[in-house]
Amino acid sequence: MIEMMTSKDLIKIEEKYGAHNYHPLPVVLAKGEGPFLWDVEGKKYFDFLSAYSAVNQGHCHPKIVQALYEQAKTLTLTSRAFHNDALGPYEEYIAKYFGYDKILPMNTGAEGDETALKLCRKWAYDKKGIAENQAKIIVCEGNFHGRTITVVSMSTDPEARDGFGPYTPGFITIPYNDLNALEKALENPDVAGFLVEPIQGEAGVFVPDEGYLTRAFKMCKAKNVLFIADEVQTGIARTGKLLACDHEKVRPDILILGKALSGGVYPVSAVLADDDIMLCIKPGQHGSTFGGNPVAAKVAVAALEVVKDEKLAERADYLGKIFRDEMRKIESPMIELVRGKGLLNAVVINQMQGKEAWDVCLEMAKNGVLAKPTHGHIIRFAPPLVISEDELRDAISRIRKSILAF
Ligand SMILES: Cc1ncc(COP(=O)(O)O)c(C=O)c1O
Repeated sequence: MIEMMTSKDLIKIEEKYGAHNYHPLPVVLAKGEGPFLWDVEGKKYFDFLSAYSAVNQGHCHPKIVQALYEQAKTLTLTSRAFHNDALGPYEEYIAKYFGYDKILPMNTGAEGDETALKLCRKWAYDKKGIAENQAKIIVCEGNFHGRTITVVSMSTDPEARDGFGPYTPGFITIPYNDLNALEKALENPDVAGFLVEPIQGEAGVFVPDEGYLTRAFKMCKAKNVLFIADEVQTGIARTGKLLACDHEKVRPDILILGKALSGGVYPVSAVLADDDIMLCIKPGQHGSTFGGNPVAAKVAVAALEVVKDEKLAERADYLGKIFRDEMRKIESPMIELVRGKGLLNAVVINQMQGKEAWDVCLEMAKNGVLAKPTHGHIIRFAPPLVISEDELRDAISRIRKSILAF
């Protein structure tokens, strides 16, 4: 009788039967609409996490849900052993939308990153002429690209990485936002690619210096190295442009998308590149049973249409400025720093009298705003981009009240 259960009961079941690989805030959500969530007791919250920027289009967006529903009752999965009538039109739509020759469809962000790494290595051997098994890919300290063995092999976060060795070789790690380090690493002739988040989301919303992406891109070009952007979290309007790379007019050689590519309705990820790179992977060399399934295809088209129709990038840009301005006005020793771009923002919390970001998040939840700390002392604020200005200001006053409670 799940209907009768309280939040407490449901948390207990999860604890007993579910792996303990997350430490969620003690709220149990049962419904979502636009920027709002409701828990099982009926309490309403502003969602300021958006499922790590997957729900940019708002919870249960009717147009995206309708696309899911229509396709789900018609045809859900064929595998790629056969063609399906939704895939081609989706591929054409997304390729033109982002301006690339081709897309390789996958499901999760980590799979998108894995795909990009394989594509880069294959290109290194087939096109760049790097000797077998010698290709190197430069990655950044503080990166977050997901949870698979190869992806955690690139990580410098002990929590994500320690205890999961042996690690995949072939990566060179440099500090983020450090062009000198990049220049030095690029001297290695076996370097095939540079994988970078245009803003480091999980690390705590680290925005690099203006010009970093442009200069990094140029340096990669000078060495015939692929510039690979992981826009799984920053892409699809979150930072105030369609892609975070658009702020610097950089067009990555390989672009990785996920999360909001489905508006949070379904796991959909994608890797985009031009023919010279994409056609290095031949039939049988990569794939996924669910990648490119007709439900994902229809959902992604609807989700991308919503981004354009509702001008979500423009909204994120406008509302993000209000958010940062208002947060900077809060006079509290708890706030060390406010940073971000568009509606991807973070507040760095000063630990005061033993109170930390987690306590602030619990207080905010009490006041009807859900957000989660990252790395102990940083709170990420990333509401669905469909939030209205009045709603945003209402949420800000609740956040202010919560911080001033300390
Ligand atoms: C930049 C980035 N890349 C990849 C991922 C992994 O995505 P997923 O959890 O869908 O595998 C994330 C998830 O937070 C991310 O932020």
